[in-house]
Amino acid sequence: MTYKITLMRGDGIGPEVVDSAVKIIDKTGVSIDWEEAHAGMNAISKFSTPLPDETIDSIQRNKIALKGPLTTPIGIGFRSINVALRKEFDLYGNLRPAKLFSGIPSRFDEVDLVIVRENTEGLYSGIEHYIGPDKSAAESIVVITKFGSERIARFAFDYARKNGRKKVTIVHKANILKYSSGLFLQTAKEVAKEFPDIECEDKIIDNMCMQLVTDPQQFDVIVTTNMFGDIISDLVAGLVGGLGVAPGANIGKDIAIFEAVHGSAPDIAGKGIANPLSIILSSCLMLNHLGERTAATKILDAVKEAIKDKKNLTGDLGGKANNKQITDAILSNI
Ligand code: NAI
Repeated sequence: MTYKITLMRGDGIGPEVVDSAVKIIDKTGVSIDWEEAHAGMNAISKFSTPLPDETIDSIQRNKIALKGPLTTPIGIGFRSINVALRKEFDLYGNLRPAKLFSGIPSRFDEVDLVIVRENTEGLYSGIEHYIGPDKSAAESIVVITKFGSERIARFAFDYARKNGRKKVTIVHKANILKYSSGLFLQTAKEVAKEFPDIECEDKIIDNMCMQLVTDPQQFDVIVTTNMFGDIISDLVAGLVGGLGVAPGANIGKDIAIFEAVHGSAPDIAGKGIANPLSIILSSCLMLNHLGERTAATKILDAVKEAIKDKKNLTGDLGGKANNKQITDAILSNI
């Protein structure tokens, strides 16, 4: 069968890294009809908006998209196009695996965990305002719903079960935020009862950060609210080589967008030295999501083999390889 997938090459280093990923996916033999769509700065010149209706329609039609990083234009349009996309399609689950591969410099020998971040509510609900005519104070409202907590907890436990994971850690701040974080914790614990085969524990966010940087091996799947998830996703990326190797997916009821989690890196754009691994590993998440597990494993094995050799590592990983070298090494291993 042929999959029709929306492809957003993105801005800055986006087109370079997306190009690598497309070549690698195509080499696995999975048949994909890529439907190109624009978003970000590259959309503005053509459509006068960073998120054209054509792009939204394409994602809506195809249900699956692969996306390079998008520069958020300053002073016009959305606060963030990524946030706008998550809101538009109710992509409530942000999946951020962090696995350490042999050959990548790290403080640890082994890290293999997955963060499931609630993507639509919490402190990022967008409800904030100044108080008083002199703007002497400001409020940002945390919104936690039972519905939102329940579906993200179920997503995490379900993911654990389907992917042979053993434990889910619920991360919260219910000792202080007794209502909002308390509701999240209580709801997630209720959902845990439906999954007796998966161990469940909970940790307070501050302790969690300390535990993650001292002993990350103890964790398996972590589920948490929007802002805590945002912060610890980048923290764990730092444990496994940085944003250049961190894959991500935004998943909703029937639509999913797979993305490079790093930004458009304007400082290195066009130089051919960007690390394409983030979007390549996100492509593996996409193929798994489509049920194309053999193709995903082929890519993962090819990546593992390529990065064992230091000459294939890009600058962000302490090497000297350019984008073409690492891409060719992966291609030749498939
Ligand atoms: P950035 O992630 O683009 O860059 C931070 C640093 O990491 C830079 O030194 C960059 O060269 C390096 N870097 C990032 N990705 C790399 C890669 N694949 N290979 C090698 N080095 C890499 O973050 P920054 O500079 O804060 O943001 C630049 C633009 O990207 C902004 O407009 C921002 O809004 C946007 N952005 C978009 C994201 C997305 O679309 N998912 C996520 C983060 C930022």
